[in-house]
Amino acid sequence: MKKCVLDFDVRRVERLSPRHVLLRLAPHGEMPEMRPGQFVEVSAGPSTLLRRPISINNVDYGRGELWLLVAAVGEGTRYICGVKTGERLNIMLPLGNGFTMSMPESSTERAPRPLLVGGGVGVAPLLFMGSELVRAGVRPTFLLGARTEAELLELDYFTAIGDVYTTTEDGSHGERGFVTDHSILKSTFTTIHVCGPKPMMTAVARYAKGRGVACEVSLENMMACGVGACLCCVEKTVRGNVCVCTEGPVFNINELTWQI
Ligand code: FES
Repeated sequence: MKKCVLDFDVRRVERLSPRHVLLRLAPHGEMPEMRPGQFVEVSAGPSTLLRRPISINNVDYGRGELWLLVAAVGEGTRYICGVKTGERLNIMLPLGNGFTMSMPESSTERAPRPLLVGGGVGVAPLLFMGSELVRAGVRPTFLLGARTEAELLELDYFTAIGDVYTTTEDGSHGERGFVTDHSILKSTFTTIHVCGPKPMMTAVARYAKGRGVACEVSLENMMACGVGACLCCVEKTVRGNVCVCTEGPVFNINELTWQI
């Protein structure tokens, strides 16, 4: 997929929590082709040298909108979260590999029943993934976890396209505990796709491996350049050390050297 650098107009800003903002952006020119699990690098204001990597939350080709779900965690992301309708953001995209829609290990005999698991702001790429599954005629199941109900992001959007199950650590929404405690995991899924904090992804990977279900995870390693130049995102894999920004961020769990 061809990479490009484009200006986007901020069409709408939705404050989802004190720390999280959903930006709907319209490109100057044609919307580039993108796939779920890819990310973009957003320029973060005149006083921040490096762009910030942000997952693609959704692409609404009908309205011509790119959606970014941004968590304000530092100076750069605070700048991005602070943009207003009508302002402009400069974005390099699309970057990385993205989720595999039909995983090689999944059986072609069985109807696909993908499970998409997300924690915290890691739910972001799953909305785009779910939307693309729906476009392909597959209804996704989402299992979303957070510490509290207030930290469960975009529930309405997920509910509009699939079956949604939740866990919260304090029991304020869905089942109490972690995603790997949820009773929906007694069901059978054909593939599992995960994004969130590493302990959560490791636990889900262990569950998938134990059941022989194909599983891929989207790593959230620190990134700077986003194009394989700075080497700050390296991950050890069975193929050796690779840059997550160019070889990932999505990996089949069998490629990783995690102890699962
Ligand atoms: Fe620079 Fe990956 S972010 S090499």
